[in-house]
Amino acid sequence: MGPKLVLFEPAKPPFFLQTKPNSWFNMMMKSPVKVAVEIAARKKIIAANWKMNLTHREAKSYADLLWTEVGVVNEIEVVLIPPFTAIPALAEALEKSPVARLGAQNMHWEKCGPFTGEISATMLRALDVNYVVLGHSERRRLFGETDEMVNRKITAALSAGLRPIVCVGETLAERDGQRVEEVLKRQIQEGLKGVNSRQFHDLVIAYEPLWAIGTGRTATPEQAEEAHGFIRSVIASVSDHPTAAQIRIQYGGSVKPENAEELLRQQDIDGALVGGASLDARNFARIIRGAVAVSA
Ligand code: PGA
Repeated sequence: MGPKLVLFEPAKPPFFLQTKPNSWFNMMMKSPVKVAVEIAARKKIIAANWKMNLTHREAKSYADLLWTEVGVVNEIEVVLIPPFTAIPALAEALEKSPVARLGAQNMHWEKCGPFTGEISATMLRALDVNYVVLGHSERRRLFGETDEMVNRKITAALSAGLRPIVCVGETLAERDGQRVEEVLKRQIQEGLKGVNSRQFHDLVIAYEPLWAIGTGRTATPEQAEEAHGFIRSVIASVSDHPTAAQIRIQYGGSVKPENAEELLRQQDIDGALVGGASLDARNFARIIRGAVAVSA
């Protein structure tokens, strides 16, 4: 089935229209039909970031239960992102019950070598991993990852055929200090330096405001949509407008079955990166069903 044609006429301009006359939004206003096709082609992507939770045995039972709950899902893309130790068991389970694709939570930028405790992109590809989360705020905040390190990892992942899910987002102090745009712009410009327009198509961006991660406090759909629109305008400036219209931007931060659908109905929100609420397969299945309903 080809992409659906949905005519898109935005009701009101997002906040950046007034200040940036050549914005991505203006381009959309000139060519609503073309952009509508591109937006319709953005398949929603719902990912479960288990963080440091679940053993390989628990991962196997989780995959079996998720398969029973949702079966084959074609309308959206589902990704399970377990700790490294559970990847082989999960890969085996998903081969029999293809309910999701596989992701990893981190990797090193070198292919191999004396880097005790690290894992390379090549090793992940050998286990049929498709996605890798890079620049998660917990890695930046707790393990000192800089934009430059994130950039090296993104480059290495792309050359190995892994699709990076690149996390960006501001702290509460940065939001209160009106610095959201500055922070997001820096993380995208520095993190994606050197990525070419073909490679952009393999990228997913995850907007995860730090104040919403694991706190139970979700960004409102309006706050999230505003940030997503801004991220898209930055992508247009570092790449080009068609790329910005095509790239998928997930929201992350206390997503749960109760709020997922409303977030996913926003124009620029193309999926969710789910932490805590994804640890229970039934809960995650509810989020998947919500995303399918929104995509129908
Ligand atoms: P959370 O985590 O859903 O538990 O807030 C999201 C994430 O950190 O990816």
